[in-house]
Amino acid sequence: MSTILITTAVITGLCALFAIILTIADKYIANYGEVDLVINEEKTYTIDGGNTLLDSLRNEKIFIPSACGGKGSCGYCKVKVIEGGGQLLSTEKPWLTEEEQKNNMRLSCQCKVKENMKIEIPEELFNVKEYKVKIVDIEPMTDKIKKFRFELPEGEKIQFKPGQYVQIKAPEYDGNTEEVYRAYSVASSIKDDNHIELLIGYTGGICTTYMHNFVEVGTEIDLNGPYGDFYYHDDDSEIVMVAAGTGFAPIRSILYHMKDNDIKRKARFYFGAKTEDDLFLLDEMKMFEEELYDFKFMPTLSRVSEDSNWSGDKGRVTNSIDTYLENGGNYTAYLCGSPVMISSIVESLNKKSVPNEKIYFDEF
Ligand code: FES
Repeated sequence: MSTILITTAVITGLCALFAIILTIADKYIANYGEVDLVINEEKTYTIDGGNTLLDSLRNEKIFIPSACGGKGSCGYCKVKVIEGGGQLLSTEKPWLTEEEQKNNMRLSCQCKVKENMKIEIPEELFNVKEYKVKIVDIEPMTDKIKKFRFELPEGEKIQFKPGQYVQIKAPEYDGNTEEVYRAYSVASSIKDDNHIELLIGYTGGICTTYMHNFVEVGTEIDLNGPYGDFYYHDDDSEIVMVAAGTGFAPIRSILYHMKDNDIKRKARFYFGAKTEDDLFLLDEMKMFEEELYDFKFMPTLSRVSEDSNWSGDKGRVTNSIDTYLENGGNYTAYLCGSPVMISSIVESLNKKSVPNEKIYFDEF
């Protein structure tokens, strides 16, 4: 018995050692020379081989969404590889549906550029830029959420659609030895194109710890964007907005867009929170109620104490959908929150006969 155990341990150890040697050799010894990277059959970049596709593209100032910073744990960095790229790796499979695997989609942070490659990316990613922005204001919203206002360098502008997101980079800091990019929805008006506002909730993660504990007014941050297919769509349906926590951000950007463009649509914003302390920007919501064509902010609280004077809605935000929406009404819904919250709201909306193609959501 002990001989079997020792043999197994030796073989396992040798395999691990071999894997480490291969990784080190690949990183420091392998020289792939220059390779051609062809994008969308029209642009060719001659680059040094050996880096991940994500890093190679970033070196050419082409930014692919990468909320986990290239760790293979967000699934955002999908790119279609037409030629080159080698075998699909086990680290990619969990993030790709069978359909995507058949269509040669790859995680660009896992796939290395070792030979000439041809890839396809959405045209709009060529509009994504990186900016060095400066924090010009920090305002606490709740005990966990802060609103940050960033200023772009003089003369630079960012163009985005209301509802889209950007990524910011947290550098190494005391207690953190890695740079990471994290995604945050833009909370401000697209008109104010020299500034960006973000709502960042403290989660204890690398980036939120950096933003809550290590920056101040004047700190410079690397920010890139815009990204995302969650944004305002114009038609004459009634708008149903549903969010919780920092999901408030993209809705706020959409509300500013409606105000700036005098959009005459009925809109209701159902915001789910636990207690009154979790509500914020109430004066601003009042301003939107006064200035927009037909808008109401309708928060609902799930934990109201007995001595509270709260006279608004109580319960989960799905109750608001059940209570206020008419079955068969002409609605378009914008949902921002956790996957669990979103799936229960989609269910409630479907019960009111809102079709999935009229439901846009931003999960985080
Ligand atoms: S960057 Fe997150 S999985 Fe590739």
